[in-house]
Amino acid sequence: MKDRTEFNTILKPYLSHPKVQQMKEYCAHGRISVLAHSLGVADMAYKLDRRFGSKSDLQVLLTGALLHDFYLYDWHDAKLSFNIFKMHGYTHPSASCRNAVETFHVDERTQEVIRCHMWPLTLRSVPRHREAVLVCIADKLCALKETFHR
Ligand SMILES: [Fe+2]
Ligand SMILES: [Fe+2]
Repeated sequence: MKDRTEFNTILKPYLSHPKVQQMKEYCAHGRISVLAHSLGVADMAYKLDRRFGSKSDLQVLLTGALLHDFYLYDWHDAKLSFNIFKMHGYTHPSASCRNAVETFHVDERTQEVIRCHMWPLTLRSVPRHREAVLVCIADKLCALKETFHR
């Protein structure tokens, strides 16, 4: 990939942080770790941006993609809830956003990427900027790929 250096330069400071490394300990889909999944989403979002020439702010796009599942718990251990508003799928974007703000003071646009990545499940968190739309799509494509290619 031509701009791989830019990709690596943006993500490097985050990847060396112990809390980001902690994402290795939790499983996303199948046996893939949350960190591997999040790097896959960053890669996919980056490729989509290049493919469609959407000229995203790469700092926002890649940081948001890397931290979109920065919730830092094992969701398989989470108590089973029959209230949709308490389910992991519904609550983890805001938990991830809170962690990203506390740990890295990410800006408002990056917060939107994280908060809105589960749309349309999270009905009122609609992705508005291009970076949030791309990560929302990339996350679904990666989740499908990871679920069916075990
Ligand atoms: Fe997620
Ligand atoms: Fe995800």
